[in-house]
Amino acid sequence: MIIIGCSNSTGLASRIAWKAKSRYCAVEKKYFPDGDLYVRFLKRVKGEHVVIVQSFQPKPQEALVEAVWAAVNAWDLGAKKVTLVAPYLAYMRQDSRFHAGEAVSARIAGELIGHHVDRVITVDPHGHRLGDWRRVFGCPVTKLTANGVVAEYIERKMPCDVVVGPDEESYQWAEPIAAYVGMPAVVLKKKRYTARRVEVRFSREVDLRGKHAVITDDIISTGHTMVEAIKALRKRGAKSVSCVAVHGIFVEGALQKLKEAGAASVVTANTIENSQAYIDVSGLIAESL
Ligand code: R5P
Repeated sequence: MIIIGCSNSTGLASRIAWKAKSRYCAVEKKYFPDGDLYVRFLKRVKGEHVVIVQSFQPKPQEALVEAVWAAVNAWDLGAKKVTLVAPYLAYMRQDSRFHAGEAVSARIAGELIGHHVDRVITVDPHGHRLGDWRRVFGCPVTKLTANGVVAEYIERKMPCDVVVGPDEESYQWAEPIAAYVGMPAVVLKKKRYTARRVEVRFSREVDLRGKHAVITDDIISTGHTMVEAIKALRKRGAKSVSCVAVHGIFVEGALQKLKEAGAASVVTANTIENSQAYIDVSGLIAESL
């Protein structure tokens, strides 16, 4: 097995290679003067199980093209099997046609990726409405969860009396993590008006006075979901509020917004390289490989 580190995931790919006791292959990636992509593997891959590691953030379009180039290149160069590890799989939030005429990006991206690889491994993907992932991608998709490593991190490093999910879908993270750390879970309700305007509210009475709350979610993108949750928790008297997410996209000054809203700390997994990525998922991925 040989692990190929594409440009968004060189650090994570070399950790996976080390943990899986496999060889690591760097990719030379550059652009021609006209903007065309150039990709070259710096080791031989003939006869190997080639594992391409590419997170789809930042620059999801470029990341997707690079991953497809890498997969096709692996086959051309004689790979016997090709797996794509996409620690963060972009496009999965548009997993349905919410308004007439919209492209269902999750299905399109899935079909495109699956056409070129034998298997996809990802971590806590969104796409709750996507249905049968194997059918959409046309190949097996292994969906890992970072809940275990996130919970271990919280237990070691964060004061925590209650684990909070900021919206209905976040029970998938909040509840198992709360069970692991032995604390109660509270799941809020969210109404999203636009990509940049959300409201959160409690669905039941909860006394948070003097308590340390930890908000857990899959993604921090613009940060508005977390900001609104922090405000709601502080209003109810929480002593501190920390934020943990699997995927830290942090667009439009999200991290600064979270700090200004009073987050005691903000931590993510390293599925996307960012300054807050203290939770390592390389072990999980290596084990799955
Ligand atoms: C949405 O359902 C996700 O679970 C996250 O809550 C959302 O993607 C966060 O986005 P933002 O940081 O832009 O509010």
